[in-house]
Amino acid sequence: MKDMVTQPILSLRDLSVHRGAAKILDRVTLSLAEGETLALVGESGAGKSTIATALMRLLDGAKVEGSAEMTGAGDLLALSERQMVKLRGRRLSMIFQDAGSALNPSYTVGRQLITVLRRNLGLSKAEARSRAIELFTSVGINDPEGRMSAYPHQLSGGMQQRVMVAIALACNPDLLLADEPTSALDVTIQAQIVRLILAQTKSRGASCIFVLHDLALASQSCDRIVVLYAGQVVEAGPSRDILERHRHPYTKQLKSCVLEIGTKDITAPEGTVPPHSEMPVGCRFATRCPRALPRCAGEAPPLQPARAGADGPLDHHFACWNPE
Ligand SMILES: Nc1ncnc2c1ncn2[C@@H]1O[C@H](COP(=O)(O)OP(=O)(O)O)[C@@H](O)[C@H]1O
Ligand code: SF4
Ligand SMILES: [Mg+2]
Repeated sequence: MKDMVTQPILSLRDLSVHRGAAKILDRVTLSLAEGETLALVGESGAGKSTIATALMRLLDGAKVEGSAEMTGAGDLLALSERQMVKLRGRRLSMIFQDAGSALNPSYTVGRQLITVLRRNLGLSKAEARSRAIELFTSVGINDPEGRMSAYPHQLSGGMQQRVMVAIALACNPDLLLADEPTSALDVTIQAQIVRLILAQTKSRGASCIFVLHDLALASQSCDRIVVLYAGQVVEAGPSRDILERHRHPYTKQLKSCVLEIGTKDITAPEGTVPPHSEMPVGCRFATRCPRALPRCAGEAPPLQPARAGADGPLDHHFACWNPE
């Protein structure tokens, strides 16, 4: 894990996304240093995919506010589509949840990777083919030459996701967005693919935003964690602090769910996120919070530093009126 503070590669400021009357994301702010891996954690519907998709500028039919400064590229949210086309795949790449539907069923996986390499890096056919075989080898595809001529449906889910990783890394992006890339896979393969993506990202000096719903996996694999609840950041900080010195009651619930896995069939905290039409105007977690105070439902808690004493980490923040 990394301790040094380096240059930010991405500074996301006050990202809000509206769909009709619903505020799907509410002033999400986070930054990512060069070479750093950051996990976005939270239940289904928290807005994790919306953040990744907004950064790729692939959100349809939503109103987006805020800024996302990427070093050397400018504000991703303000670039023209033409400028984004130049960035996608080259400096900024995304691995989607379901490799099966992200790959084109009509072309061999080798051809899909070669096309990306030729289009973005201007390689000759022979150069692209040999680079493609190298990439397939680096992501652990057995018989990489033979697999070049396979169609997606001829590969297992794990192999398809390895192909997606190879395609996403093909042009050595500076920032990789991985949106629950293992959730469609068998549990035994999941950890392998997560490790593969992070090892490949680190070895290239790239940064990664990893969307996960599992706090334990996030803390084992990423430098920092941002916990989202109903479209808002409720806690953020170095992985160890979030796991061991969390202050937000929701982070505590996520953690206790993790601890209970294996003994109980529980994967999410009790209760459900209120629909957007019934979201409390104050703390969005108020309807489920065991520590709620009278002020919580009416007054939104701001993010504040968790630093307790001189030795506390500077970059650990939480939003709560009655923290743990
Ligand atoms: N295309 C869409 N149209 C309408 N609402 C959407 C759409 N995509 C996502 N949402 C809503 O936005 C919220 C955040 O979704 P999402 O970012 O997919 O969450 P997560 O990835 O954390 O599960 C949810 O309330 C979801 O219902
Ligand atoms: S602000 Fe209040 S309702 Fe929200 S998490 Fe803190 S104690 Fe719970
Ligand atoms: Mg999602």
